[in-house]
Amino acid sequence: MENERRIPVHVAIIMDGNGRWAKKRGLPRTAGHAQGARTVERILEDADHMGIRFLTVYAFSTENWTRPDSEVKALMNLLRTYMKTSLAKCAKNNVRIRVLGDKTKLDKDLQDAIANLEMETTNNTGIGFQIAINYGSRDEIVRAVRRISENVRKGLIDPEEINENMITNNLDTGGIPAPDLLIRTGGEQRISNFLLWQTAYAELYFCDVAWPDFTKDDLEKAVDAFNGRERRYGGLIS
Ligand code: FPP
Repeated sequence: MENERRIPVHVAIIMDGNGRWAKKRGLPRTAGHAQGARTVERILEDADHMGIRFLTVYAFSTENWTRPDSEVKALMNLLRTYMKTSLAKCAKNNVRIRVLGDKTKLDKDLQDAIANLEMETTNNTGIGFQIAINYGSRDEIVRAVRRISENVRKGLIDPEEINENMITNNLDTGGIPAPDLLIRTGGEQRISNFLLWQTAYAELYFCDVAWPDFTKDDLEKAVDAFNGRERRYGGLIS
């Protein structure tokens, strides 16, 4: 069916512009993050209703630790609240949660809440919701290479057996299809160390809307733009 709109299987989002959204309203930056967290919940439901199968959001980067203590604390508290309170909602909406990133640097209670939410939602069959926390793509690749090297050292695999699939499967996103569409809100046009390996063939969509203001309409616009692109994966159109 030629005119039918294709829905991307996996959409990844860099949720930028929270701080500026707050500043414009004379509010502290943390109010922008709080509003941003509400947007996350709304967009997860919208994505699910649109038929998107995987949604991945960049919540906290390996570089975000350099922000003022009060802002780091506020972001961690938002994530803590989400992990501790969203189980009932995930169960109701059949959402499967996975956290990407190096969790060992997070507070123990947050690590426990994440482990619990991942475990309790692991058999859900609806939308997969990945939240990147203390995540950096280069760090993720380093951790994957270390894991593979360990298996080489133990003699379990031969260096010649290392291929793209093995690296893909050893990333935090192992088992999840690569994003088809990467959206960045907030007006900047950068990837900022997010899913570098996984977005090799993703369509990139940048919009000026600040994340707290991002709506289902904006998501629809991004999907429309995705539909207007020809994906050739380095080949030629037949
Ligand atoms: C970038 O905006 C955004 C972040 C660093 C944090 C994003 C986190 C959330 C929206 C909360 C996530 C919550 C859940 C439940 C997953 P910025 O602060 O860099 O904005 P600016 O560029 O305007 O300063």
